[in-house]
Amino acid sequence: MCGIVGYIGKSQAAPILIDGLSKLEYRGYDSAGVCIYNNALNLIKSKGRLKILEEKVNESTINGCIGIGHTRWATHGAPSDENAHPHYNEDETISLVHNGIIENYLRLKERLEGEGYTFKSETDTEVAVQLIDFYYKKCNNLLDAVISAIDEIEGSYAFAILAVNEPDKVIAVRKDSPLIIGLGNEENYIASDIPAILKYTRDIYLLEDKEIAIVTEDAVTILNIDKEPLERDIYHVDWDIEAAEKGGYDHFMLKEIFEQPRVVKDTLLPRLPLDQDEILLDGISLSKEDIEKINQIYIVACGTASYTGLVGKYLVERISRIPVISEIASEFRYRDPILDENTLMIVVSQSGETADTLAALRMAKKSGAHVIGIVNAVGSTIAREADDVLYTWAGPEIAVASTKAYSAQLCAMYLISIKIAMELGKISVEEFRELRDELYAIPKKIETILEQSDKIKELAYKYKDSKNVFYIGRGLDFAVSMEGALKLKEIAYLHAEPYAAGELKHGPIALIEDGSLVVGLLAQEELFDKTVSNIKEVKARGAKVLAIALEGNTEIEKTADEVIYVPRTHWYLTSILENIPQQIFAYYIAVGLGHDVDKPRNLAKSVTVE
Ligand code: F6R
Repeated sequence: MCGIVGYIGKSQAAPILIDGLSKLEYRGYDSAGVCIYNNALNLIKSKGRLKILEEKVNESTINGCIGIGHTRWATHGAPSDENAHPHYNEDETISLVHNGIIENYLRLKERLEGEGYTFKSETDTEVAVQLIDFYYKKCNNLLDAVISAIDEIEGSYAFAILAVNEPDKVIAVRKDSPLIIGLGNEENYIASDIPAILKYTRDIYLLEDKEIAIVTEDAVTILNIDKEPLERDIYHVDWDIEAAEKGGYDHFMLKEIFEQPRVVKDTLLPRLPLDQDEILLDGISLSKEDIEKINQIYIVACGTASYTGLVGKYLVERISRIPVISEIASEFRYRDPILDENTLMIVVSQSGETADTLAALRMAKKSGAHVIGIVNAVGSTIAREADDVLYTWAGPEIAVASTKAYSAQLCAMYLISIKIAMELGKISVEEFRELRDELYAIPKKIETILEQSDKIKELAYKYKDSKNVFYIGRGLDFAVSMEGALKLKEIAYLHAEPYAAGELKHGPIALIEDGSLVVGLLAQEELFDKTVSNIKEVKARGAKVLAIALEGNTEIEKTADEVIYVPRTHWYLTSILENIPQQIFAYYIAVGLGHDVDKPRNLAKSVTVE
């Protein structure tokens, strides 16, 4: 995820670009930059939030009415001034911004290096601008050079491109990354998303894949790849800015919940090629021999991320028979844990900056343990300091309460745990294929749960005034109950506690009284009857029960007051599905109670203090 903007007209471009980028910061915010044409292509870019770029632009004397801008969510190359967009070709006559991932950039880069090109950044994007330059030098025409370049580029892209020798236009083109063209009066705009330009125009063209827009001050021409002009209807935007930034959703949290099918696909599928019986864990250096030597695994994190650890513990111990300790980082760091060079430590962090998790990582490294980071924020401190990093491709998570990042972390945990089991010979090729097929089916299954959100909303409104809510389950269900209870606490401010269902009668059941709400998690088929018994115990004491169960297990309707069904899957993968109704339930309770869902009281997105 990144955000791009472009402007051509009679006004100063820089303030319009900065303003547009400010509306796109939700797409990434680790660096930003602009390129303004004024007889030359003048680049200003900077690591860090847009504010820093804005200060730099204000201090500069750059004027010009044509420009492109970018706000970055790093994928290839850490956040830095050098890796920030826009990028130049070598003689600084072409400049380009990019949103997407160029999958064959290493091959293209090698080829261009063979042609004598040198590169300043670690990005895939710089390869695109140099490739355009390569063709421009042959044909001396920006449009033809762009068409030749995109013919070779694999992956996703939205590009906006400026050339010093053709200063009357900006060229825009997209494939699998969004791009729109805004139509003004003697001025036109380019953007990744509508909010960036809504202040200036409500008339837009929606560019389709592999369509090219030639944007000048007083015209926009849309061509296909064969340079044939295309007719396009003008789309008139009638939403307000606030709604548009959230893609029409009321809150970022809801938008992020609904993004999960995409997030799961991005995190899983590139690592699970269908033509190989292999998991490709990019960024993980552990060999089969290294895995065979592991005598214990620590999974350490904070909050939601730490519940991924509990799921990982159940998965790895049950199949691979390696002892796993799942622990919260703030405890781990002060209790002198036993670590050695045969310890594998997995730290999990959305932000990659959580102070306690980082301290735990540093302790483990000092003791010789091998550290893998499961991290969402590319180039973050944890990503840099871990021996290996497996990125979750959730994109920026704006809502403070984690949803899509947690699902992506579960995916990463599935991949690592299956990889360990395969290397140790604990699962057969047939078992692996069965799991892979099920992993491929997860995004669709999440969609079917999302389709039930109206029903879950009704239940949330019905139970929103509950005073005490208990989440119970066994095994993997217990691990997921921790996340359900946390979501309810942090955004709905309801007292909610997770308990291992079998532990209830050892004390906590004393809390159950008439009207207490119990959420019973029943996705572990072999533990179904046991948990149903515990549900009967709380029912007998006056509790209302909302069950989350697997499709077909309708038996539960005899005991529970309400049931939400989730699709069946391999037992290994139930957690990710079972958690989605919990997210939606907590979300609508918070909405029903009138809370600020995206920014709950007392909380921060990235906790960089102990
Ligand atoms: C809860 C939540 C937090 C984070 C925790 C760790 O919704 O988001 O509990 O999971 O603060 O943060 P990261 O993953 O950034 O290390």
